[in-house]
Amino acid sequence: MNFMMKKKMLITGATSGIGTYLAHHFAQLGFTLYLHGRDQKKLDALAKGLGSADFTLLRCDLADTKSISIMFEELSLKTNVIDVLISNAFGKMENELVKIDGDALTEFFRISVVGTADVIRQAIPFLKHSKDARIINIVADWGFPMHNVMTGPSAYISAKYAVHGLGAALQTEIAKLGIKTTNLCPGIVAADIEYGTSDADFINSKGNSAIHPKDLAKAVEFILGQEFSYVRSLVLTPSNPEYNGL
Ligand SMILES: NC(=O)c1ccc[n+]([C@@H]2O[C@H](COP(=O)([O-])OP(=O)(O)OC[C@H]3O[C@@H](n4cnc5c(N)ncnc54)[C@H](OP(=O)(O)O)[C@@H]3O)[C@@H](O)[C@H]2O)c1
Repeated sequence: MNFMMKKKMLITGATSGIGTYLAHHFAQLGFTLYLHGRDQKKLDALAKGLGSADFTLLRCDLADTKSISIMFEELSLKTNVIDVLISNAFGKMENELVKIDGDALTEFFRISVVGTADVIRQAIPFLKHSKDARIINIVADWGFPMHNVMTGPSAYISAKYAVHGLGAALQTEIAKLGIKTTNLCPGIVAADIEYGTSDADFINSKGNSAIHPKDLAKAVEFILGQEFSYVRSLVLTPSNPEYNGL
């Protein structure tokens, strides 16, 4: 994996779930990491877990565009180049539309759609300085526009459709800047599996009903590792043959 060593990677939402797992995985591979979260205590816990890895913590609330700008100002004091942005942070919205009030809906879209777009927008000047710049946009199979009928929370799915559209359009809009954007669309991920959990423990607790985050990390490696091709979109589902997240 020498071609990937020493890359500079910014992961948003690194204080929980998939983001934390990816932080550990790419720290092990020798990446220089810029790890975002919104909660200082969670960032401190992440730092403790990563020990002597090469990382910088960044804090901002994606609901607040000013806070995003301040985070990028802080980043600019550390580096002027980012090779890989993993756009992973997202709001939570599991309720049906009729059970959500308008303010909660606005906040959710502000974090998940506006926040995601603004982070990408402000990361572009850093990505432009990379020789092989990548944005990996963590969408969801629920955000992969394939079926006319979807089963799942409509606000979450529509926000995922929005960020899928964002990633797909950026594939041409910022191609001239040398930045490749991939929509990575996983089904259910065992996001609570800690880095280092044995395969046997994973199978015992999850069976084949969820994706091991290790496989998601390997999917990111695959995307980054393509030398003569461009992975624009990648859908990954649990191995259960009955899984029908789409
Ligand atoms: N888990 C799955 O089955 C699954 C499947 C498909 C796609 N995905 C996608 O994968 C990504 C990660 O999922 P996950 O399950 O790991 O989610 P998670 O555990 O809820 O982590 C989300 C991350 O985003 C951060 N975040 C949320 N709101 C924020 C805000 N206002 N400002 C700044 N940061 C904020 C969280 O910070 P805190 O730690 O402070 O909450 C956390 O670090 C998401 O985009 C999700 O939609 C997940």
